[in-house]
Amino acid sequence: MRTATTLSVLASIGTASAFWRMECRGRVGLARIDPLITPGEASAHVHAIHGSSGFSADATYEDLHNADCTSCGVVQDKSAYWAPVMYFRHEDGQYELVPQIGGMLAYYFLNVDAGNPDSGVKAFPNNFRMIAGNAMRRNFSIGSLSYKDADPEKSIWAKLGQTTQADLAQRAIGFNCLNYHKLAEGALMRHYLPEKDYLDGNCADGVRIELAFPSCWNGKETDVPGHTSHVAYPDLVTNGACPKGFETKLPGLMYETIWATNKFAGVAGQFVLSNGDEQGFGYHGDFISGWDEDFLQNAVNTCTNKSGKISDCPLFTLIDEDTQRECKMKVPSFLAKEKVDGFVGKSLPGNVVVQYGPEPAVANPRPAASQATSHVPVPTVSYQPGVTSLNLPGGVFKEKPTSTTSEEQVKISALAAPAPEPESESETSSTPSPTPAPAPIPSDPPVPEGYELVRTEYHTNGKVVSKVIVIETVQYVTLTTETLTVTATLGAGNARRELNHLHRHRHLHGHGHGAH
Ligand SMILES: *[C@@H]1O[C@H](CO)[C@@H](O)[C@H](O)[C@H]1NC(C)=O
Ligand SMILES: *[C@@H]1O[C@H](CO)[C@@H](O)[C@H](O)[C@H]1NC(C)=O
Repeated sequence: MRTATTLSVLASIGTASAFWRMECRGRVGLARIDPLITPGEASAHVHAIHGSSGFSADATYEDLHNADCTSCGVVQDKSAYWAPVMYFRHEDGQYELVPQIGGMLAYYFLNVDAGNPDSGVKAFPNNFRMIAGNAMRRNFSIGSLSYKDADPEKSIWAKLGQTTQADLAQRAIGFNCLNYHKLAEGALMRHYLPEKDYLDGNCADGVRIELAFPSCWNGKETDVPGHTSHVAYPDLVTNGACPKGFETKLPGLMYETIWATNKFAGVAGQFVLSNGDEQGFGYHGDFISGWDEDFLQNAVNTCTNKSGKISDCPLFTLIDEDTQRECKMKVPSFLAKEKVDGFVGKSLPGNVVVQYGPEPAVANPRPAASQATSHVPVPTVSYQPGVTSLNLPGGVFKEKPTSTTSEEQVKISALAAPAPEPESESETSSTPSPTPAPAPIPSDPPVPEGYELVRTEYHTNGKVVSKVIVIETVQYVTLTTETLTVTATLGAGNARRELNHLHRHRHLHGHGHGAH
């Protein structure tokens, strides 16, 4: 039995602004529903849905606000939060849902408009609706930058002419490589989903997808056709100054969901978002406020404890994690039989076709012959630990065994974790291998110091046989058992590059030292 605990890894420099972190441990539904884009009918692709149980294909504010329950942690929050999910396409073409870890976090940043700081932060009006991101986008284009380039310093974005709304929207998406043995990456630093080899080699605890919403409002409509033109980003995405015409500052929403890509380490295949996007440029999210506006305004004004914990806001009525998870929406009858969890067949739900850019995806493409196995190589940047100029707390979910350590201990040991060794680029960058030579049988990887060999297992996937050596150590300091799996891949042909890899992948997320 494991329980997810929120761990806040301090990644901000300078003054921290007030915020709170709405925890939504439960997923209220997993379905092709989107009341903003396709009211009343099935939506194009699957979403992970969090929040009010009153969610439906044509949910009204009253449906949401008066619902019995929410899968989030505060009784008064009956909002709806939804975003695409991630699937894994196995080598044989079967798609499998990538497990989502810990539900979702919705940050409410209470940053004021830097150009107009005295006007404060205005609560979302009842039934406020908006979308961040663009499901059809298939490229990254900011100036002459390549998507793999690191962002320039925030302070020079304006000088570089990189503060158009289109630019900011692309920087509002982040794919954070999680490895709890290393310093945490900064939020919103990488704007594409790294390729599978990179994830296998570096992201031992999966990927956290981040999405910041626009937080400057025109002060008029609660929604508009298209659901985006009534809002805009401040010029530093999550903070900064609001553009002209959008001077009403709203709470800055940011969604975070974690996907267990590590579960597929060493398994041949490809990750893809449910909207048919392998690179992540088309990641997006939707929001309907189900709060009572007056209550939310009161919370915005008074819930300013720097901890960001909802438990430090005296106005909120809290809901325990199990109760959050029990809250479910009604799946409409026209979707009741659709398989969206586990293995879902040889096409994405909704028969979504994987489309590559740079031109935008189209709604009903002719079946593409290239779909089955084509793979866009995604160049990678190296692991980017810790330091960030973003004024973000960069909270993460971290799983830990129940009742062994307190959150405080976790925090201390995570912060005390050894500085990461940069991964060698040559391990993950793809140099073309013209003639796959028969692979030599690699010798077992060394058992790291401080671990003991527990057992050896063999896993077969197609032509590739993996020998998995399970080693364990007991962390006496924190009384946590930690399991580290080291995989050496045996096999031929296309598995060649993996031979050099040690796939490390932790089952129980302990913490502290010992893995390096
Ligand atoms: C913030 O919350 C902590 C508990 O997490 C409490 O000890 C502290 O007094 C609070 N600070 C303020 C300013 O209310
Ligand atoms: C890049 O994507 C945007 C948004 O979908 C689109 O308007 C633009 O035409 C695309 N660029 C290219 C070169 O296709």
